[in-house]
Amino acid sequence: VHRPLEFGVATSAYQTEGAVGRDGRGESIWDTFCRRSGAIADGSDGSMACQSYDLVNEDVSLAQRLGAGWYRFSIAWPRVIPDGTGRIEQRGLDYYDRLVDHLLDAGIAPAPTLYHWDLPQILEDHGGWLSRDTASAFAEYATVVAERLTDRVPMWATLNEPWCSAYLGYAAGVHAPGRMIGKDAHRATHHLMLAHGWGAQALRAAGAGWVGIVLNPAPILAATDVPQETTDAVDALRNRVWWGPIVNGRYDDQSIAAAPVLADPDLVRDGDLHSIHGSAQWLGINYYTPMRLVRRTDHKRAAGGEEGAYPGVAGFQFAPREPQTSLGWEIHADSLRDLLVDLSHHTHLPLIVTENGAAFRDSANSSSSASAINDADRIRYLRDHLEAVHAAREVGADVRAYFAWTLLDNFEWAHGYTQKFGIVQVDAVTGARTPKASFYWLADYFRAGYEKPR
Ligand code: FCB
Repeated sequence: VHRPLEFGVATSAYQTEGAVGRDGRGESIWDTFCRRSGAIADGSDGSMACQSYDLVNEDVSLAQRLGAGWYRFSIAWPRVIPDGTGRIEQRGLDYYDRLVDHLLDAGIAPAPTLYHWDLPQILEDHGGWLSRDTASAFAEYATVVAERLTDRVPMWATLNEPWCSAYLGYAAGVHAPGRMIGKDAHRATHHLMLAHGWGAQALRAAGAGWVGIVLNPAPILAATDVPQETTDAVDALRNRVWWGPIVNGRYDDQSIAAAPVLADPDLVRDGDLHSIHGSAQWLGINYYTPMRLVRRTDHKRAAGGEEGAYPGVAGFQFAPREPQTSLGWEIHADSLRDLLVDLSHHTHLPLIVTENGAAFRDSANSSSSASAINDADRIRYLRDHLEAVHAAREVGADVRAYFAWTLLDNFEWAHGYTQKFGIVQVDAVTGARTPKASFYWLADYFRAGYEKPR
């Protein structure tokens, strides 16, 4: 018999806080990347974002009105340790300290993520995730944050979607730091895993309770003419390379076939896998869309884009079907059910859906109040995916909680402000927050503590 599913809402630092120059915050790779011409769809950046650095109390009130039991946010490393290592900026820590207290006062449990992609730029200047030193710096940062907050924080995540950090950042070049170094990006993969392992150890040494990592695994739906080795390689780089060493203490054969450097003892040193093995007490799953593969006949290598994020794998392309969100992501709730069932079976770890949601072009509902945003398509997406979570639980998947992405329309990385995932609209100038219809729908759903009738 399951305990009831718990609910929350998720955000991240660079996408919401703004105030990038305040209180001693150092520069991150996203500040730098956004200045590169053509990097961000609308030429924008996160310098204003949702102004949450000043308005976060409003965000907490919204989460409370939503009936969220959990609030997932991320801590900006460059606010806490502006130079990446060494000197601690107390004003940065104070901000998160106040946020944690404020959440607890509102009856909401804080679920911080230590790294949601905003690496201190100075660490990138020294090699970023291609350098082993970045993993030690991360463990140092984890200790600093945990010593301040661990008495009040019930669950911790180390990294958010390390696949994106490694492959969108260093292979496809569409995320910061915007490098395209091909197969050398696999080195970042191991250093991210090491950062997670050492970070988890540091958190626990400082007294942290429930430590996990947030991944973005995806079911690979391959057309029949795609060679098995291609499907296996995509599956390895997207999925197995991340949870495999945590669960089994090694990179499996499929992962090493796709990324041979993961068998190189100069990269994967004695003791590394031991530090990673068993380092997560729960797994966070960010799910939006399946990866539908078709064969690519012209054998051209895709420059940039999603295909470029699988270095060394050729002869395929992604072909999402309808229906799609405004980002062109295929909507397929059954894939969430299958993913949760599959991962629960393979990892035996408690799972949390740490992000799920959709971007749509919201249209104002002229028939009722001028401010009501009738985002019926987002409601449908959330409803179908919540159903999928219940369906997975019914066949035994150990899914503990579901967090919606995201509370606010925010800075959506390379898409700037052109893509809207929020259940609350944000005025770009004043920062005024206006709940959409999906906010009210989700509030009703959360309140009902909905469990599918047996
Ligand atoms: C995930 C990110 C999150 C947000 C959503 C849409 O990959 O973790 O910050 O951008 O996608």
